[in-house]
Amino acid sequence: MEYKFLKTEFKDNGITIMTVSAPKSLNALNSTVLKEIDHFVSNLDTKKTRVLIITGDGEKAFVAGADISEMVHLYEKEGYEFSKLGAIAFRKIETLPIPVIAAVNGFCLGGGCELAMACDFRYASSNAKFGQPEVGLGITPGFSGTYRLAKLVGQGMAKEMIFTSKAIKADEALRIGLVNAVCEPEELMNKVMMTAKRILANAPLAIAHAKRCINESYDLCADDAIELENVAFGKCFATDDQKEGMAAFLEKREAVFGGK
Ligand code: CAA
Repeated sequence: MEYKFLKTEFKDNGITIMTVSAPKSLNALNSTVLKEIDHFVSNLDTKKTRVLIITGDGEKAFVAGADISEMVHLYEKEGYEFSKLGAIAFRKIETLPIPVIAAVNGFCLGGGCELAMACDFRYASSNAKFGQPEVGLGITPGFSGTYRLAKLVGQGMAKEMIFTSKAIKADEALRIGLVNAVCEPEELMNKVMMTAKRILANAPLAIAHAKRCINESYDLCADDAIELENVAFGKCFATDDQKEGMAAFLEKREAVFGGK
């Protein structure tokens, strides 16, 4: 499929970059962009792509939110459907069996912050600004922001950000745990790439199991979460990667993982 609002770059080493590109509206998410994201993620070959990086085109914005010029015309039913469209696409990102890193360059607002939060973690450039400004437009966050922001930074901080609609700078986002690292804009992609390459050196199936355990255990009681991990741990022993990883350690050499 030809994308109108996405640029995709598949690197030989297993790293793929998906760039949201709607420069005239600071990469705002209209329904076409959301459908393209859904299509891209649904069709991503996660045997070939081992780490996905999501970013926004240009230096000014990651994504400045859902497209207000489209939403202005919606009524209740269409509003619900628009919310579902984003929520389903973002949930697919969150549940991909590979790590997804957001490289946040500039405005990361509303649906943009929600897109970044659907990723496994976020690095930000020092000019990034995060916020959920929706209540200032008379709506709630719509792409699962109430759920994920509270999960990431705690209910008190999430409520303050959402109720005040105030954007926070990158250093504050770092302080509250919304991003893992902040760097100069020109360093951002390098830093994300270095982390992605570190991930590539590790066992893909073990990473997939660990990601699923972390994602799913949040909504489980302690006993069920611990059992989920016990089962995942056991399953790792059915893989070649476990044999290779442990043999390599004992033989004092680098492991070479095949993802089997
Ligand atoms: N939707 C549609 N268009 C947008 C947009 C958005 N979310 N954000 C920016 N744009 C457009 C502007 O309308 C403008 O277009 P024109 O040149 O045609 O006028 C262009 O992008 C550049 O923006 P500005 O001139 O406003 O740039 P600025 O530097 O002065 O301000 C900004 C930047 C602070 C990000 C400002 O554009 C802004 O406040 N944008 C809206 C942010 C927002 O409210 N996002 C949340 C949307 S609601 C949502 O996301 C719901 C949800 O959870 C699903």
